[in-house]
Amino acid sequence: MAELSGKVALVTGASGGIGQAISRTLAAAGASVLLHTNSQPDDAARLAAAIREAGGAAQVVQGDLAQPGAAARLIDVVRAKTPYLDILVNNAGKGGRMPLEALTEAEFAHYLQINLTAPLFLIQQSLTLLRDGGRIINISSIGTRSAWPEMAAYAPTKAGLEALTLLLAPQLGARAITINAVRPGATATAMNPGAQDPRQAAETAKQIALGRVGQPQDIAEVVAFLASARAGWITGQSIDASGGQRL
Ligand SMILES: NC(=O)c1ccc[n+]([C@@H]2O[C@H](COP(=O)([O-])OP(=O)(O)OC[C@H]3O[C@@H](n4cnc5c(N)ncnc54)[C@H](OP(=O)(O)O)[C@@H]3O)[C@@H](O)[C@H]2O)c1
Repeated sequence: MAELSGKVALVTGASGGIGQAISRTLAAAGASVLLHTNSQPDDAARLAAAIREAGGAAQVVQGDLAQPGAAARLIDVVRAKTPYLDILVNNAGKGGRMPLEALTEAEFAHYLQINLTAPLFLIQQSLTLLRDGGRIINISSIGTRSAWPEMAAYAPTKAGLEALTLLLAPQLGARAITINAVRPGATATAMNPGAQDPRQAAETAKQIALGRVGQPQDIAEVVAFLASARAGWITGQSIDASGGQRL
């Protein structure tokens, strides 16, 4: 029997990049996957169709996590589609670089809302849907443990997500729910065009122990492991998945 058979997963930001790879991988392991999208419903629908063609189960849910109250609304939509969840992957995120001097309070509030407020309240709102023994996996960034001054809007929000991952572990542990964060390094997706460009990727690879930038599947494998029964003894951790970038 497939490792995640009978499990139901919600993956935010599932239409492309890392979220798409996570969704395909969880579905291939037998999970029924709710694919969340904001602005790319057609891509999400194509992904759902591809998962179903491959023998898996997938449905699309939509919601703009930049809006206050978005988490509660999204979980209402999820509740209408499934009586329970086993796996929540907070993958949706907003990346960006700018000098500190150029950052406004409104912009920072926007990053905070998508990267920390929405995941926090998605966790809160899904507690009654998550079955005992469930899994919460938050996608952070190595920006939390390496100094990039141009990431003042982004890295602090991910650091907050890692703090949340740590502090909730004992509370969730009482129900055998694990919560962990995964820290990708430079990964070739729309969010990181530099990692998609062969010349820039080769330059970045010089600071990566394994000598290349990441691909979405590199991250998806770690998430699939954390979602599995095999990772039941890991909780409250933030795990680098960067090929050893800037060690
Ligand atoms: N790529 C990297 O180098 C890298 C490195 C470290 C960490 N990460 C993290 O990895 C995660 C996935 O990013 P990615 O690299 O796969 O980039 P991506 O392809 O740009 O994906 C970002 C996802 O976030 C969703 N999103 C953005 N704004 C949203 C909003 N207002 N409401 C709801 N969803 C929203 C997008 O949904 P729609 O497309 O449906 O609108 C999209 O699916 C992010 O949390 C990112 O911070 C990436």
